[in-house]
Amino acid sequence: MSILRIARLGHPVLRRVAEPLPPERLDDPEILRLFDDMIETVRESEGAGLAAPQVHVPLRIVVLNTDPAGGPLVIVNPEISFLDNHLLRSFEGCLSVPDLRAAVNRVGKVRVDGLDREGQSLSLDLEGFSAIAVQHECDHLDGVLFLDRCDLRTLAFLDELRRFGPLDPSFRRGGEPVGGGAPGGGDATPEESPPEPAPDTPPAEAAGAAAWSSPPLLLGRGSPAEG
Ligand code: NI
Repeated sequence: MSILRIARLGHPVLRRVAEPLPPERLDDPEILRLFDDMIETVRESEGAGLAAPQVHVPLRIVVLNTDPAGGPLVIVNPEISFLDNHLLRSFEGCLSVPDLRAAVNRVGKVRVDGLDREGQSLSLDLEGFSAIAVQHECDHLDGVLFLDRCDLRTLAFLDELRRFGPLDPSFRRGGEPVGGGAPGGGDATPEESPPEPAPDTPPAEAAGAAAWSSPPLLLGRGSPAEG
């Protein structure tokens, strides 16, 4: 197995729509090696997931690494369907966009259908962080990056994010769950304008890590924030 080189923002492979993997290629030693190498690469980089275009292979293959007990899972030709309208807002990163984080709204519960590495049909219902991660990875298959979906006002370098906290009032409300239903119970469109910070929030607290409501705020190498 090998650790593969990750394509970074600006490489055209990240903006291509990837091709489905013909199921007959599931016996191809080259494809089997790719599965193994993607698994080793996502483990080495401690990512939440990895999509084949990120390793310069424009095929519809993702590896999901959000189940510590189960280990990385290969999903071939994944298709996502949304199971509800509830949105989760979390800070995402990407192995192809090093050191940056930004808030993205994603559907909190999804189903992913596809094939496993043996070619067996696979259908998984995922919630929370796993649901976020699989949406992020499947976006890569369509040439979409989290930057395209993020609230740009929250975009931050990881060091600054750790130092000053999120530039996003919805993360600073003292433990209130982050995210919530889509506006008006509608679709998965991110909120257009996050609420202003409470006027009585001391600036130091508003900016400080201690004031974060933290569960979806998954940061950094060593935590499964990137994919
Ligand atoms: Ni990514």
